Amino acid sequence: MGYDLKLRVWRGDKSGGELGDYTVEVSEGEVVLDAIHRLQATQAGDLAVRWNCKAGKCGSCSAEINGRPRLLCMTRLSDFDPAETITVTPMRAFPVIRDLVTDVSFNYEKAEQVPAFAPPPRDPDGKRRMMQVDVERGQEFRKCIECFLCQDTCHVVRDHDENKKSFAGPRFFLRYAELDMHPLDTHDRRALAQEAAGVGMCNITKCCTEVCPEGIHITDNAIIPLKERVADRKYDPLVWLGNKIGIR
Ligand code: SF4
Ligand code: F3S
Ligand code: FES
Repeated sequence: MGYDLKLRVWRGDKSGGELGDYTVEVSEGEVVLDAIHRLQATQAGDLAVRWNCKAGKCGSCSAEINGRPRLLCMTRLSDFDPAETITVTPMRAFPVIRDLVTDVSFNYEKAEQVPAFAPPPRDPDGKRRMMQVDVERGQEFRKCIECFLCQDTCHVVRDHDENKKSFAGPRFFLRYAELDMHPLDTHDRRALAQEAAGVGMCNITKCCTEVCPEGIHITDNAIIPLKERVADRKYDPLVWLGNKIGIR
């Protein structure tokens, strides 16, 4: 059964913009991205929106729906009252390019700062070995689709652009944690996680975990263990002594 959906969509670019009101015909079972596409096709041909898979897997269609960071393609219209106006705005933590499209290059800059996986030489038979439990621990982190909704929602950068220089954000704490827990990685990332990535600025509000469309337990399984590892290093008596006499 179809009905008329009231949509309010942010239109504009980096110089400014405003919310535009539209009425779009939608059908039962559709998602917010369907309504946006119909709006584009029938009334606003120049509306900019980024998307690719329409299956919750590419991480492109991130935006804010009624102020909450969400994937447009995975948010069902049936989650809302048909009489309700649905407001769609671009991710607030990143600069707007146009309409719903933001410039997420902050995230790529932070990704570049994470040193690549550095395995030791192979065993004499040419293989590398690790325990199954370690393989499984990393699997959860590898589900990340880089939608950056966690980055968008984290209060450390959401309203504080000035923190972006010293804070990598939850998506990259996930990456640091994954690599630091990897038994075959030879790089000690704890100093970097603390100093360049600023894991200490996270005060465990868990908002990142709440919005992750992949259901990754970012705070409990990555950030808290990473903080513990960083603290172990910081309070290790040998590291402390090394810092005092300037050899580490
Ligand atoms: Fe998106 Fe979750 Fe990855 Fe963050 S951790 S970028 S919310 S999939
Ligand atoms: Fe931000 Fe997540 Fe920490 S929302 S403050 S990184 S728990
Ligand atoms: Fe790919 Fe939404 S279009 S995640």
